[in-house]
Amino acid sequence: TVETAEASAAQWHPIRLEALPPRAGGVACVRRMSKLQRPPARPRPHSPADWTVAAGAEGVLLLRGKKGRIQVSALGPDLLRIRARSDGPFSPRPSAAVLPEALTATAGTVVTEGTVVSLFTNAGSFQMDRATGHWAVLDDGGLLVASGSTPPTFSAGKTQLRLNLAERELLFGLGEGTGPLNRRGLVRDFWNLDVLGHAPAIHPALQSLYVSIPFAISNRDGRAAGWFWDCPARQTWDLGQTDRSIATLTADSDELDLYLFLGPTVPAVVGRFTELTGRPPLPPRWALGFQQCRYSYETRAELETVAREFRRRKLPCDVLYLDIHHLDGHRVFTFGSKFPRPAEMLAGLARKGFKTVAIVDPGVKDDPKFGVLKRGMQLGAFVRDAADTDDLFGEVWPGRVRFPDFLNPKVRDWWGLEQHRVTELGVSGIWNDMNEPANFARPDKTLDPEAIHHTPEGPKRHVDVHNLYGQAMAQASREGLLAHARTGRKKTATPRPFVVTRAGYAGIQRHAIVWTGDNSSHWEHLRDAVPTLLNLSLSGVSACGADVGGFLGVPTPELFTRWFQFAAFTPFFRNHTNHGTPAQEPWAFGAPIEEICRLYLNLRYQLIPYLYCLTAEARRTGAPWMRPLCWHYANDAVAAACEDQFLVGSDLLVAPILQPGATARCVYVPNDLWFDFWTGEMHPGGRHIVVQAPMDQIPLLVRAGALLPMESAGPSVSPGAQQTISLHCWPRGRGTLEWHEDDGTTEAYHQGVVCQRQIRSHTRGRTLVLEFEPESGAWSSTVNTWRLILWGARTASGLTVNGVPFPATFDGEGQVCIAEIPNSPGALHVRFTGLAS
Ligand code: GLC
Repeated sequence: TVETAEASAAQWHPIRLEALPPRAGGVACVRRMSKLQRPPARPRPHSPADWTVAAGAEGVLLLRGKKGRIQVSALGPDLLRIRARSDGPFSPRPSAAVLPEALTATAGTVVTEGTVVSLFTNAGSFQMDRATGHWAVLDDGGLLVASGSTPPTFSAGKTQLRLNLAERELLFGLGEGTGPLNRRGLVRDFWNLDVLGHAPAIHPALQSLYVSIPFAISNRDGRAAGWFWDCPARQTWDLGQTDRSIATLTADSDELDLYLFLGPTVPAVVGRFTELTGRPPLPPRWALGFQQCRYSYETRAELETVAREFRRRKLPCDVLYLDIHHLDGHRVFTFGSKFPRPAEMLAGLARKGFKTVAIVDPGVKDDPKFGVLKRGMQLGAFVRDAADTDDLFGEVWPGRVRFPDFLNPKVRDWWGLEQHRVTELGVSGIWNDMNEPANFARPDKTLDPEAIHHTPEGPKRHVDVHNLYGQAMAQASREGLLAHARTGRKKTATPRPFVVTRAGYAGIQRHAIVWTGDNSSHWEHLRDAVPTLLNLSLSGVSACGADVGGFLGVPTPELFTRWFQFAAFTPFFRNHTNHGTPAQEPWAFGAPIEEICRLYLNLRYQLIPYLYCLTAEARRTGAPWMRPLCWHYANDAVAAACEDQFLVGSDLLVAPILQPGATARCVYVPNDLWFDFWTGEMHPGGRHIVVQAPMDQIPLLVRAGALLPMESAGPSVSPGAQQTISLHCWPRGRGTLEWHEDDGTTEAYHQGVVCQRQIRSHTRGRTLVLEFEPESGAWSSTVNTWRLILWGARTASGLTVNGVPFPATFDGEGQVCIAEIPNSPGALHVRFTGLAS
């Protein structure tokens, strides 16, 4: 079957490409493609009349056949949208995932030759054989995606599409899921589910988690493409499990609505996917700090003690959480009697530098005296039963509940206003949980499939929009926080929203950070967190994290330590544990482990400027900060298979310890030169090395040429960049830092109130050169001094700034040259001739 798939793939160059009509900007592509010298199409035995071209307008190809209609639009040279249905017009399908402005068809040329009709863009083409219905997408490097059989098939409310898988094709992304980084050979169900205790083992049979993102990145020998089927009802993707050469994608929908990304690199696919579904907004700078949670801190005194302990023990921490025990009988947006005078408590915590985030579950307690319920009922805010005669009831922590219908914009606005009740008291962020939505009252753990949502497009059955519920709730929370910042009566509002969610759909990154729910205190779960977070990151969700230590169960001190070290390099760094488990704060495991946690907290806080630059990069380009090795090393087959290491940006390689008892591990260093972060030892790449890992060390390597901006660790993250930034510069390679700073707390960055500059480094012989581009943007930098830390030096002499000799000191033991140069908004040119050979 593999040969068959490859052979049918090989048919897909039937057009003599040099025969194409010339078109603006397309010439280079056509010329490159013509080099392939494909044989001309052989006439086919069938009549081409199976599919006729109904329209071939600019950028759009419409085909009609006995089995349905297909519309292919070019939304850009590198992005095609394929819609298909068996009959009738395409539905309007407003999408919660896709930004409307990304949907305009752009230039594309329709060409018919023999039985083959093609839509060409400047980057590639969609080609379909009208006789058989087979289609393929190609670029100048060859085949990217090919249909596995006829066009989609439609039956009883389901649409199915088959795609060929090439022999060595790898599949990444697919949102949140346990199991291997490469998703090929698995079956995935896209159906948001409250999977309490996917423990203890991680097994490939677990097909659903809380977040559904039906988006795959295919990697064929280093050439990437992507598919995204925009449908929030249930989808099941068999990624070569039944037939290893075929991916079968099935959605509970009457239509196919597929986006195809031509890549041909992983960053290009993810960049385009996040352009389509939205880039993540900047979180407040404090969101990069450490966060401490448990289910639950049950009294005000307990929470305040935790806060005091963090400060007393000099353990940096920015965020504390209120889980459900803070509520008055599980009533949303309230404080119970065990948290008296909440405003006073929150202000006290704020004075100590803590932000407090409150849990907000969707289920509203069905208590006739409860104000939120009364106001919601007046508005008609709740999801309705199948007959639309009454609100739908379910059961969650509060007992009997009704579920706000977040798919209705009026309900989102109302919920945002209710949320002001806690933000006005001083709550700084919202934690949306149980929003799949979870419902204990049904065996399928969610709402009646026939329940009714009243959306702007009319009533919809729950089953058709299920995967949007959590996303719409997160949207309500974010918009509520923004509205409060605009209109809030008290100055307690945090102007830049902070929302964490458990459930979501494609595009969730626009509204919230995602955490991976109820993992367990098992080594398997630590190991699994690496590919899970990498695949989420590749699915557009760059701000993600897993509960440190595992939520269910009790970690051994060793597991907790290794988890903590790993999580210090993940975007959402939160310690959390279940109700009834022993304490899990960093000091709970004794002084030596507390000391290790302190080391990693300090390192995390020192790295905040680097991490904030990466966060800004995610917003600009969609590039996540946690990257699989293939992100930067596309043609390296070993890197592509690597699922127990990751890159933080382009310059840090993290290889967490994922096994008990390990004091060293094998690390694959990709093809560059790398330095051990702890010892400075140099490692040429493209090979495996063994790295020592005593309990206080996670294997960590820095790429030659790296530029790592660091600041001093404090008890909490400073809102803006500190006045002195230590810029660590590693020699013997080329590096680029996209420096970004802003006020760290407001939304003014949307109006360009940022300070950005590129900083580049390169080494020639014994000379290291740093080029600071002039600053741009309306924020005036808070950095007064760049403290340059030049690694691999042998002297302090030989440093010039803008051509003028500049004093420096030399630390012989560390082999570093240190110079404090004043910041300047203009260009800075630093040259250092004192590198060791
Ligand atoms: C869910 C959440 C968990 C939370 C608990 C109680 O299980 O996933 O994080 O602590 O509910 O609110």
